[in-house]
Amino acid sequence: MTDQAPQKRLYIKTYGCQMNVYDSERMADVLRPLGYGVTDQPEGADLVVLNTCHIREKATEKVYSELGQIRRMKERKAEAGGQMTVAVAGCVAQAEGEEIMARQPAVDLVVGPQSYHRLPELIARAHRASGQRLAADFSADEKFDGLPAERHVAGVTAFLTVQEGCDKFCTFCVVPYTRGAEYSRPAQDILDEARRLADKGVREVTLLGQNVNAYAGGQGGGLAELVRRLADIGGLDRIRYTTSHPRDMDDDLIAAHGEIPQLMPYLHLPVQAGSDKVLKAMNRAHTAESYLRLVEKIRAARPDMAMSGDFIVGFPGESDKDFEATLELVRAVGFASAFSFKYSRRPGTPAAAMPLQVAEEAKEERLARLLDLLDEQQRAFNAACVGRTLPVLFEKPGRHAGQVVGRSPYLQAVHAEAPDGLIGQIVPVRIESAAKMSLAGVLAGHAAMEPA
Ligand code: SAH
Ligand code: SF4
Ligand code: F3S
Repeated sequence: MTDQAPQKRLYIKTYGCQMNVYDSERMADVLRPLGYGVTDQPEGADLVVLNTCHIREKATEKVYSELGQIRRMKERKAEAGGQMTVAVAGCVAQAEGEEIMARQPAVDLVVGPQSYHRLPELIARAHRASGQRLAADFSADEKFDGLPAERHVAGVTAFLTVQEGCDKFCTFCVVPYTRGAEYSRPAQDILDEARRLADKGVREVTLLGQNVNAYAGGQGGGLAELVRRLADIGGLDRIRYTTSHPRDMDDDLIAAHGEIPQLMPYLHLPVQAGSDKVLKAMNRAHTAESYLRLVEKIRAARPDMAMSGDFIVGFPGESDKDFEATLELVRAVGFASAFSFKYSRRPGTPAAAMPLQVAEEAKEERLARLLDLLDEQQRAFNAACVGRTLPVLFEKPGRHAGQVVGRSPYLQAVHAEAPDGLIGQIVPVRIESAAKMSLAGVLAGHAAMEPA
């Protein structure tokens, strides 16, 4: 996102999950009335915000190395007589605020994920070089009430956070500590925000939450009820949601997948592992068997559902046999896409203190084997689309002239030769070839479109 001719230049770098992407957009919305316009270059910017992720050690390290570079840019700007303000936001800010300010004096302010509505005040305080420079409260309702209703919309798809925080306390995970307890935004606020997005030309909205399917912001209705109400908004043709926890996947939501045409057939439902012993130690509250039964139920409601998931290899105590159980589960499900990680020991989480931490080489080897299998499944899923005609929502020009890129219902990127004028439209495309990450096709007549 880049704004035209701003008075003050704002550079935001986003790490981590889609919720951070949403938050970065909202920070820009908060700062726009103060004269800040978004730039994609940190050098010379008036305000630099790093919106950080704490999930794995590597993600956190990246922030400190980036801050080293930002410090040099800040010095260069000061030498030229200017001023650069540096803010650290996001989950590292929440978890390690004090430490960041101690380790990197170039940081002017630290702001946790629930305090973005306070950015103007925090920046003013930093400029006066007095008062509080750290805001790390845990009040999600204040955050959403304090953010401007107006959203700057850059494309035909948009994220919309409906739920924040997590009460699940998986033993490996920092999120309950960085994002606080589960909080659902009131349904009416979400519907209003979605309507405004649709008025600005957004055709597809992805509802976000750390546990989005635990959403409980309506009058008794859960996520399914919210999706039904969103589906009534004219112009909003596609609805997605992420990330879901298996334990909150209730019958109403499953049924919604069979009933609501706007609800896309792609579900990110992290399972993490296939061994019941490991799942128990992770505090996941599902077994391999219960997960497989759940997938069966989902596919009974929506037979073409593309399944996606997250996996952790090398959780403490995971044996070769346990890891084999993960491969077995993957074979049984058949994933259209997935994200796999080596277990990363996060200070303060229960798993960090567990005995039998797995050696790095074993993690590497397991990750490589899992990735091979998941790659194979992803390629097979994509290859099975060749010859079909899929409705594609075109989003932007492609890399080559005359090409546009969009998404299939299954979230695959689809390239086709087509005029730019089709951006923002859902168009039938006959798929002619498939690679691991994308499909390519040609425009087909409307009569040929499959319902999806
Ligand atoms: N709320 C979501 C996931 C949020 S974090 C859920 O419960 O599924 C995104 C993913 O990061 C997790 O699904 C998990 O696979 C991974 N992850 C979290 N903590 C991790 C850790 N300590 N080491 C490695 N991967 C981790
Ligand atoms: Fe982390 Fe588990 Fe909560 Fe997901 S459900 S955010 S993995 S604690
Ligand atoms: Fe990372 Fe925080 Fe998201 S730790 S994954 S940015 S919730």
